[in-house]
Amino acid sequence: MAVLRIPDEGRVVTDPEAIRSHLSRHGIWYEQWPVAGRVDRQATAEQILAAYAPEVDRLKARGGYITADVIDVTSDVPGLQAMLDKFNREHIHAEDEVRFIVRGSGVFHIHPPEGPVFAIEVLAGDLINVPAGTLHWFDLCADRDIRAIRLFREKAGWTPQYSGSDIATGYQPLCFGPSHLPRGTAISGAFLGQSA
Ligand SMILES: [Fe+2]
Repeated sequence: MAVLRIPDEGRVVTDPEAIRSHLSRHGIWYEQWPVAGRVDRQATAEQILAAYAPEVDRLKARGGYITADVIDVTSDVPGLQAMLDKFNREHIHAEDEVRFIVRGSGVFHIHPPEGPVFAIEVLAGDLINVPAGTLHWFDLCADRDIRAIRLFREKAGWTPQYSGSDIATGYQPLCFGPSHLPRGTAISGAFLGQSA
């Protein structure tokens, strides 16, 4: 279940309906899909797409997405840091960023035109759509483990376009639970959602 944090206000929101409401005000879809027993950890990308075909097909129809694929990131992926560094700076895409989390977790920070920056931590079972043109950045949690279904209209549209802002450096990607906390983070601060 996702966790919403508004660091500048010291707020943490865990109620799914409250999260959905906040995100929808910014045009972001949030859904929870059942995950228990649907795929095992060794499942291939094809098996994952087959297992979630009903939800993926519904989302394709809703958003006009054409293709879907599966990314699998673990801490032993060669060049991982370079890959993460492409997305942890503020950017937009010409295409929606649609992710369903099959395994692991990560944190999207959203910088809306009005109102404070907010962070949405996504975990297994969470579906999120960050609309095209939305200023955002993304970090993995400390265990650097995520497997996600991605949906696209046009893969080329998903290339990051950087804003040039260093705003992301002012927000620490906090994740739920001490095992996911970045080393040296104070637990009390983490649960308040304070920025570093
Ligand atoms: Fe992005």
